[in-house]
Amino acid sequence: MLDLDPEKLPQHVAIIMDGNGRWAKRRGLPRFYGHREGVKTAKRIITKACEIPIPVLTLYAFSRENWNRPAREVAALMDLLRAYLREELPVMLEKGIRFRVIGERERFPEDIQALIRDCEEKTASGTRMTLVLALSYGGRAEIARAARLISQAVKAGDLEPEEVTPEVFRNYLYTADLPDPDLLIRTSGEQRISNFLLYQCAYTEFYFTPVLWPDFSEEEFLKALKEYQGRERRFGRV
Ligand code: IPE
Ligand code: IPE
Ligand code: MG
Repeated sequence: MLDLDPEKLPQHVAIIMDGNGRWAKRRGLPRFYGHREGVKTAKRIITKACEIPIPVLTLYAFSRENWNRPAREVAALMDLLRAYLREELPVMLEKGIRFRVIGERERFPEDIQALIRDCEEKTASGTRMTLVLALSYGGRAEIARAARLISQAVKAGDLEPEEVTPEVFRNYLYTADLPDPDLLIRTSGEQRISNFLLYQCAYTEFYFTPVLWPDFSEEEFLKALKEYQGRERRFGRV
């Protein structure tokens, strides 16, 4: 087992959970089976992150662009999300997880919105780990939204244009109260950010693995964390 240095644990790990479709295709199965398996992986990684513990874990579950997938696939993903939120609330409560959603939640069916609200409210006092699910999330839309909110604040006279610094700007992002990710993991071999946490990843360490998300084990997760601990972060200094 890989030993982690408890002094150098990332405060926030973000994961682009990619490769479900290819996992299923390789087995000659419809893409849905890959997504179903991917949910199981997410549960295992959440449990592991809780044990370590990683204070904040953000999972990219559905992008804004993912609405453009075939209606059948979108519907299947909605069913999985619905089931996940229903089943996991007691688990989150038991583990001390604080649950949060970032993204355009208003685009989801009303019953899913209600489940999200319920999970957020009931887990609000969880202190072990914050689990953030990015749903209908897009980094550019988040930045545009922040600009919109700032314009409204300026127009209302609550903020001066000169006061809009990077530190103030970040207060208008969904992640205002969370630290920036220290480590971003992407599975499936793709080496791109796909509109995820664009503002927040300014100094994030990236880790890419060819492993498809359904095959991403606790060991693979520890491997990524171990590699992170060996990186030298300079933040522009020498
Ligand atoms: C990630 O797996 C899950 C979502 C984007 C919802 P994909 O469905 O993108 O799987 P691939 O990339 O087609 O293999
Ligand atoms: C990114 O994966 C979104 C999620 C994992 C939810 P995609 O599969 O949608 O990204 P692209 O299309 O390969 O960039
Ligand atoms: Mg993909």
